[in-house]
Amino acid sequence: MSLARRALLALSTSAWLRDHATKSRIVRRSVARFMPGERLDDALEAARQQQASGITAILTHLGENLAQREEAEEVASHYLDVLDRIAASGLDAHVSIKLTQLGLDFDPELCFRHFQLVLDRASARNQFVWIDMESSAYVDRTLDIFRRACGRSSRVGIALQAYLHRSAGDLDQLLAIAPAIRLVKGAYLEPPSIAFPKKSDVDESYYRLGVRLLTAAAAGGPLVHIATHDPRLIERLGAFASDHAVSSSAYEYAMLYGIQRHLQQRLAREGRRVRVLIAYGDNWFPWYMRRLAERPANVWFLLKNFGA
Ligand code: FDA
Repeated sequence: MSLARRALLALSTSAWLRDHATKSRIVRRSVARFMPGERLDDALEAARQQQASGITAILTHLGENLAQREEAEEVASHYLDVLDRIAASGLDAHVSIKLTQLGLDFDPELCFRHFQLVLDRASARNQFVWIDMESSAYVDRTLDIFRRACGRSSRVGIALQAYLHRSAGDLDQLLAIAPAIRLVKGAYLEPPSIAFPKKSDVDESYYRLGVRLLTAAAAGGPLVHIATHDPRLIERLGAFASDHAVSSSAYEYAMLYGIQRHLQQRLAREGRRVRVLIAYGDNWFPWYMRRLAERPANVWFLLKNFGA
């Protein structure tokens, strides 16, 4: 992992920087590249626009590591509202949630109850809920809640991080139960004992896990989200899917709003299923820092604007 990436990920947890950066007009303008606005309405409007070009959506309300019961309760009830708004709009949109927004840090049972409420509402409407995967300290607790959720509904999926050494083993178990799996590279600062430090090893792990997922999907396994902006991996896994006659309805490409737009549109024009995650909300600082860390060149763009 590059020094710049490591530094940006370390800064993503700085409360001092969060308080200062979120007030800066230039930083706020730079965030707009990755999110259409802070309000749910902004996200719904962006989902509507991209659906017109054949790209469906995943909506996520930014926030993580909430410490108060009332805040977690508010987030759960916000997501119930989001599901209602999606149903009323007729959009094809999933939602994606971080369990630490629902109380995982201080009360896993409460977190499960909140998640259950959201999942029940989604299931009753044939909607779909994803669980994001956060840093490695949360993987076991997140998987526990996911397993319990799978016993309740098939309208739920989970993110699996290719950079973790453990993910190949987790996948063995998930393939037996998961209705849907989103394969991502992984966005947090992790030590080499937990995650591959070299990008080439992460990419190879992503490909190997992707092949296993697509093979399982072809045999009636989970819905697969190939969630990456990496054109080379998209090409390699796309070639694997067509060589092995994996039905195009068995998987979707998933990307983030504002990243590799041309690639998103090209895939959609070619008739591939593409779903773009649209984030909104005012708690965007750590999420934004992870986006900068993914491509430290984004920082030079930001600094140039400071100079302008
Ligand atoms: P990589 O970082 O190699 O990027 C490939 C290319 O894409 C780059 O060369 C660049 O051109 C472009 N690119 C990538 N990121 C960019 C950026 N921020 N700005 C500009 N260009 C960029 N992680 C996690 O730990 N838990 C989760 O639950 C999720 N959920 C999730 C959902 C979806 C739909 C996506 C697409 C991603 C996630 N992630 C995630 C984030 C993921 O782990 C990873 O950090 C990012 O996707 C960046 O990695 P890539 O796979 O794109 O490859």
